[in-house]
Amino acid sequence: MRGPPVHSAAVQYKIAPSLLAADFACLRESIATVEEEVDLLHLDVMDGHFVPNISFGMPVIEAIRAHSDLPFDCHMMTTNPVDYLPAISDAGADIVTLHLEAVPDPRHAFETASGLGLDLGVVVSPPTPAEALEPYLEQSAMVLIMSVHPGFGGQSFMPEVLRKVEQVRKWVDSRGLATDIQIDGGISSKTIGLARDAGANVFVAGTAVFGTGDPAVAVGELRAVIEGRA
Ligand code: DX5
Ligand code: ZN
Repeated sequence: MRGPPVHSAAVQYKIAPSLLAADFACLRESIATVEEEVDLLHLDVMDGHFVPNISFGMPVIEAIRAHSDLPFDCHMMTTNPVDYLPAISDAGADIVTLHLEAVPDPRHAFETASGLGLDLGVVVSPPTPAEALEPYLEQSAMVLIMSVHPGFGGQSFMPEVLRKVEQVRKWVDSRGLATDIQIDGGISSKTIGLARDAGANVFVAGTAVFGTGDPAVAVGELRAVIEGRA
């Protein structure tokens, strides 16, 4: 494994465990296992329409908000996600990411989020090109490049999306932006180095964290790879 790439001096690496892989019967305890180890908590909201799966929504986010000080990173996999920005902000979201496949023109969404004091970002699923993100890099706190088809945890990482990560990293760095580049899907100690080398700096991991016997240790292993210590 190579060490961190050249841009690492300016880039802060962040780990965002996805609660989708946690035991839903004890979310408070699951969050507590990683609270001190991670940078964001990734919350996958699915409606059974935009993706063929239903996960959880505002009541769950509101309930766990009382038990964590982590920034809540809400990945919206719903139709009409912009309609829900006020509610998800009230529930405790800090940053919300919207799929460009659901919101092809997110200009109104950025205005709404700004009025709510919410950070917003845009997401592309694997078939959508990097060029779709390009007009929104300045306004986005974070852009998300999916490395699986959205909807389910536990899928295999799609290495073909790394080309998009490389392209977006070039745009972000050449414009002097601080936009976070997040990758989500199939991230493990085997794939996280590839994502880092391509230019991602925010790593979502569900199965590789909450699917293990010791989520805190699992986060430590991911961080060791990112930092070139493993
Ligand atoms: C999939 C979700 C992911 C999912 C990742 O639609 O967006 O956040 O939880 O799970 P793993 O890390 O298991 O691929
Ligand atoms: Zn996600």
